[in-house]
Amino acid sequence: MPILEVKNLKIYYFTPSGIVKAVDGVDLYIERGETRCIVGESGSGKSTLGMGIAGLIDHPGRIVDGEVIFDGKIVASKNGIYTQKLLGRRITLIFQDPRSALNPVMTVGEQISETLQHNLGLDRREAYKIAYDLLRKVEIPDPERVLHSYPHELSGGMAQRVVIAIALSTEPDLIIADEPTSALDVTVQAEILRLFRSLVKSGKRSVLFITHDLSVALEICDTTSIMYAGKIVEEGLTREIFEKPLHPYTQALLSSIPRIGLKTEKLMSISGEPPLMIEPPKGCRFHPRCPFKLEICDKQEPILINLSETRRVACHLYK
Ligand SMILES: Nc1ncnc2c1ncn2[C@@H]1O[C@H](COP(=O)(O)OP(=O)(O)O)[C@@H](O)[C@H]1O
Ligand code: SF4
Ligand SMILES: [Mg+2]
Repeated sequence: MPILEVKNLKIYYFTPSGIVKAVDGVDLYIERGETRCIVGESGSGKSTLGMGIAGLIDHPGRIVDGEVIFDGKIVASKNGIYTQKLLGRRITLIFQDPRSALNPVMTVGEQISETLQHNLGLDRREAYKIAYDLLRKVEIPDPERVLHSYPHELSGGMAQRVVIAIALSTEPDLIIADEPTSALDVTVQAEILRLFRSLVKSGKRSVLFITHDLSVALEICDTTSIMYAGKIVEEGLTREIFEKPLHPYTQALLSSIPRIGLKTEKLMSISGEPPLMIEPPKGCRFHPRCPFKLEICDKQEPILINLSETRRVACHLYK
């Protein structure tokens, strides 16, 4: 049984200017121990999907259809959200801005040990000892000093290491990481990605890793789902997607990554604007930007079909 099953999930924002269909019928399965990337450009609904899985959609947003099933139980649907007990323990979150995830008036040691005391029932001394070990595990050079620091005394990279330490501390079943390195300097980004990869690869936990950068997916994830305008348009082993992208949108994403040794390849940039999510294009949502558009594409919506055990694509070119 997968640890996470998302079935036909629809999350809409009811705004004064219209209904934003941010997540519009997403199916997603994550096995235990699987690291799965969600890749798509800004505005495609990645964060809404992640927040929906975590049960954290706020007004004006709402789950209008479908369900989120965690470890065999429905935890979020339009009928109710039951994730509170899982959050911070069996499901943990890492966001783009580490400082907003940390409590500004508590030291790092207090925050980690409080999480451990609350979730694992440890006493204060045991919790501090584990906190120290966790800070070493996330390669913080002087854990003793950091334990006694407040978040504003840490650099962005150090703060994100602390957030990762907290996210790992309860041995969660699922970690949801939403662009965890996007707010950091480029050199720090690479270090944090390397750290994150080594930490998740050594564990049994499942990861949902959200990024706009397909090359990050190759570094981090076993499997990748490509999201466009609220829908998943392609899915597969990350390696397969890199070797042979099927959906024209994935092809465009991939060719916009400069690759060493492929300098003769003409870069196909993605022309046109991402669609407005209040009134997305009819038929295939990518059709206004697609160089391979067929007669049927602006009339009928392509559904996600299985091409192999690992590969799925939603495009009329594949029948
Ligand atoms: N709180 C909100 N209220 C209204 N619209 C929102 C809200 N949050 C996100 N959206 C809209 O939902 C769509 C998907 O956004 P988001 O999930 O943040 O995408 P991504 O993370 O891929 O950039 C966008 O059109 C965005 O403007
Ligand atoms: S369904 Fe048609 S418009 Fe959409 S990506 Fe495929 S070929 Fe292009
Ligand atoms: Mg986002």
